[in-house]
Amino acid sequence: MLQNSSSDKNSNQSNDFTLKVEKILSQLSLDEKISLLHGNSKFTISGVKRLGIPEWKMSDGPHGVREEINRDNWEPANWENDYSTYLPTATALAATWNADLAYKFGVVLGREARARDKDVILGPGVNIHRTPLCGRNFEYFSEDPYFSGVMSVPYIKGVQEQDVAACVKHFALNNQEYERFFVNVIIDERTLREIYLPAFDAAINEGKAISVMSAYNKVDGKWCSENPELLNNILKNEWKFDGVVISDWNGTHSTIEAANAGLDIEMGTEVEEYKNYFFADKLKQAVIDGEVDIQTIDGKVKRILTAMFKTKVFDTNRSKGELITIANFKVAKKVAEEAVVLLKNEKNTLPFNSKNLKTIAVIGENAIAKHAAGGGSSGIKTKYEITPLEGLQNKLNDEINIVFAQGYMATTIFDWQKGVIDTGESVIEKSIELRNEAIEIAKNADVVIIFAGLNHHFDNESVDRENMNLPYNQDELIKEVVKVNPNTVVVLISGSPVDITEWVDETPAIIQGWYAGSEAGNVFADVLFGDVNPSGKLPFTFPKKLEDSPAHVFGEYPGENSTVKYKEGIFVGYRYFDTFDVKPQFAFGHGLSYTNFQYNKVNLNKDQINEEENLNITIQIENVGNVSGNEIIQLYIEDIESSVKRPKKELKGFKKVLLKKGEVKEIEFQVNKKMLSFYDVNNKSWKAEPGKFRLHIGSASDDIRLTAEFELVAAVN
Ligand code: BGC
Repeated sequence: MLQNSSSDKNSNQSNDFTLKVEKILSQLSLDEKISLLHGNSKFTISGVKRLGIPEWKMSDGPHGVREEINRDNWEPANWENDYSTYLPTATALAATWNADLAYKFGVVLGREARARDKDVILGPGVNIHRTPLCGRNFEYFSEDPYFSGVMSVPYIKGVQEQDVAACVKHFALNNQEYERFFVNVIIDERTLREIYLPAFDAAINEGKAISVMSAYNKVDGKWCSENPELLNNILKNEWKFDGVVISDWNGTHSTIEAANAGLDIEMGTEVEEYKNYFFADKLKQAVIDGEVDIQTIDGKVKRILTAMFKTKVFDTNRSKGELITIANFKVAKKVAEEAVVLLKNEKNTLPFNSKNLKTIAVIGENAIAKHAAGGGSSGIKTKYEITPLEGLQNKLNDEINIVFAQGYMATTIFDWQKGVIDTGESVIEKSIELRNEAIEIAKNADVVIIFAGLNHHFDNESVDRENMNLPYNQDELIKEVVKVNPNTVVVLISGSPVDITEWVDETPAIIQGWYAGSEAGNVFADVLFGDVNPSGKLPFTFPKKLEDSPAHVFGEYPGENSTVKYKEGIFVGYRYFDTFDVKPQFAFGHGLSYTNFQYNKVNLNKDQINEEENLNITIQIENVGNVSGNEIIQLYIEDIESSVKRPKKELKGFKKVLLKKGEVKEIEFQVNKKMLSFYDVNNKSWKAEPGKFRLHIGSASDDIRLTAEFELVAAVN
């Protein structure tokens, strides 16, 4: 039997579990080893009772612990104690640009996972937003690789400090949901290295993620779950990942190939009995037949046991966690507060001053919709979710008359097999009626708030949107409402950009509100009335038109014959918009505040560095407006002289600072060789070429306030 002892504790601290792992391994039979390598229910692998190894229990994240389902099917288990905190989804977390909050987010998730007796939380998702249409963008951070990494590292640490393994997904290149089960991604090496791998690299090498989920799709013709280049070469050999590779559910396609390519655990395969999994009886036979070495099996078992030790599975002092506490909901609220992005605010429309208002018209189905349960595997059964209308009612009591009209209604349903189904025809009259009602209440209100956008019929796993349009005739509704009442604010609820070109010019204020978690409604009310000064910034480019997006400009989405070539290469997101001079609706990093920041000056400690030196940058920033506010100062670097084509600029650092009214602060950045490098395919390594570089420092990728140049020279030996 395994048990806790003080020497266990000491070796936990040193993180060296080799001897203990070897000892257990030596006692395991082949059958017992195999039993650890595949699911024995939807979300567990079996333990080995006689040795005190418990079942290893996984649960979906990434923004809350998933509702309990039955062991052997996807139906809810109907428990009464499986409510969790609905945290804002990944795009919202990213929009905070606050790594400390990402850590707190991870802590909540880890705590709640422990309270639900889970060992692994299936998150974060760090796939890059390649197209605005990807149904799972809301579960992923950003279009920028460095930024996705920076936000995922503290998230993982937060989770894992609660004695739960994070599982970084979906490795790799799962950037569209369309044909996700079989699409073959063709990509050049530089693009893979510069855009699609860095977030995984950071999650593993800095975040020390204990597990990774292989993606459904193929890369260069090979399933990700049996892709030796991705799993053995890059992940395990190059990055020295000593954790566990878990297949996505029903994403395993072979026994011998997958076992030898680096997959450790097979989950979710849709067969009648678990013994028919590729990694069950068939794997045992492959070992007996000599097609998979016993050392390969032992390697997998060691990884799993090590993961168990790292998360204190055998310890009596393992974290017990806590579920749906006030503290946890507070974190959800804080994330939502810092996530809200003020996209546009003309004539100081916002914040509203409640003293000047008698009647507010609140319009839109998203004012009363709840989103926690939607989106697919990430759906949450939460204790509560405050809708935007409730948030306003909570805030304003009886002071102000709030009049609500739904304005539009969802005419779609989501079906796992068929995707988004439009049931529209029968409700045309109803839609017109709803719109007219909304126009009427708008006419008589002092101000109008429209909660528009998408829902999880569109932002959903397994489907991509067909276009970037707002569904349910919302464009018509917004245009008509703005016509009768120009004091209209639109709050967009979505995880990806939508086309707003039809009304953006006439609408004075627009907010990106996201799927903002349990406290969403309260937070929106606080932002609208100025109790929270918005500070979020877009973690992706918000294009005017879908046709402006690089994956679509180059015509390689969703691909042909189930093959998609990433022909736009490294020019993803703002790297494309900037370099090719295409003006987006709102740029990457954009987000306004109720105050104004002035960037005063930039100082470099040198104007020349060699490869071994760092450059120190100091900037001075001042809050020149009337209220306190957070600014996110962004540092982009441009390689002026380069032998390869590089983006106009790339994000390499950012700082979030709180400045009181009138306050001035000095902020420092450091630049090193890594930040100047590109991936050199000839030498298969990162390379910083001597020459001139330009620093762009500002409030958004298209709002650069300070620039400076320096030179990189070859190191003198
Ligand atoms: C999703 C994963 C998820 C898994 C288990 C898959 O369909 O792609 O992200 O963790 O199901 O629910």
